[in-house]
Amino acid sequence: VAPAVPSICGLPLKYVSLVTLAVQNAALTLIMHYSRVSAAPSRTYSAAAAVLMVELLKGSISLAVAFTRIDSYAPQYQPLGSQPATSLLNPWVWLSRFRRLGKEVFRSDCWKLSIPAILYVIQNNLQFVAVSNLEAATFQVSYQMKILTTAAFSVVMLRKKLSPVKWLALLFLAIGVGIVQIQNGSGHKSPDDMHRDMNAFKGFMAVAAACFTSGLAGVYFEMVLKNSPGDLWVRNVQLSLFSLLPALVPIVFSGSSNPVPTTGSGWFSTSLFENFGVWAWATVLTQVLGGLLTALVIKYADNILKGFATSLSIVISFLASVALFHFQITVSFILGATVVLVATWMYNQPDSSSTSGSEGTARE
Ligand code: C5P
Repeated sequence: VAPAVPSICGLPLKYVSLVTLAVQNAALTLIMHYSRVSAAPSRTYSAAAAVLMVELLKGSISLAVAFTRIDSYAPQYQPLGSQPATSLLNPWVWLSRFRRLGKEVFRSDCWKLSIPAILYVIQNNLQFVAVSNLEAATFQVSYQMKILTTAAFSVVMLRKKLSPVKWLALLFLAIGVGIVQIQNGSGHKSPDDMHRDMNAFKGFMAVAAACFTSGLAGVYFEMVLKNSPGDLWVRNVQLSLFSLLPALVPIVFSGSSNPVPTTGSGWFSTSLFENFGVWAWATVLTQVLGGLLTALVIKYADNILKGFATSLSIVISFLASVALFHFQITVSFILGATVVLVATWMYNQPDSSSTSGSEGTARE
């Protein structure tokens, strides 16, 4: 059964979340790159600590939302004559809610979330390696390869059928992203980046691996969401719970992702949050928002459409640069952005055959 699509101020949540995700993606690349490379190059914060904080925050928010919605997906047995108006004051009602939530979170199929959880933790750590070794624009554009890995995994794992028009749209999208990249890849480095010891090969390897895990984890999460019952927010809690252990691994094993020599005595000493300043927190919060939006987009749209939203983010971040930093719009940007927009429009055209399409195909 297709999920009912809620709306915000009359606008379908599907489109609101897609547009918000595009804006969030544009902001994240800039904030993350700035926090790692430009804000304080000699005093870098621990990427592993940031990944752990994101999971803790996302998990807590999801838990709170899951708790408030519990009656909608795990209805309580109402004894005859119970008074809902006074029920909020009744401690048994609260206890029952906690019990039902616990049962939902630890239901027998919760292990399914362990696979995307591990993949996402690897991806989130790789993202920091990539962003620290590549220019922001280069990173953002090469990260779009995940659209192709996602489409491939959707076809293989969800048996999604894409019409020739949709494949053509994906090809156009890749070409459009490449054209936008031409101007960025002109060898120009920002002054901040020039002072930084960046290893482009390491960066590209990290991006390639992150694209692989992004496609696989996203499609796996979509498969779990759409092929088995369970509330989205409960699934998010399960995802965060299973992320905690792998997120702790790089911290326990020497804090190797932190280039700063540790001065503390133990791995959980102050060194874990050393240099964890405003920009590190801004990165964490933007990632938390992105994770929650991603979950909504995967539920109400799908992974491939998510890829288009993130491609649009390239256009958004460039326009923001024009407005904020007075960058010059070039012919290649206009051409590339137009191709991206046309590809997005093409992908969203209804198919003539009813079997294909972006919605509903994941449900068998
Ligand atoms: O690049 P991509 O779109 O694959 O990134 C997805 C991001 O969203 C990852 O950082 C992942 O941790 C996060 N996510 C999440 N909750 C979900 C699905 C993804 O936090 N349910």
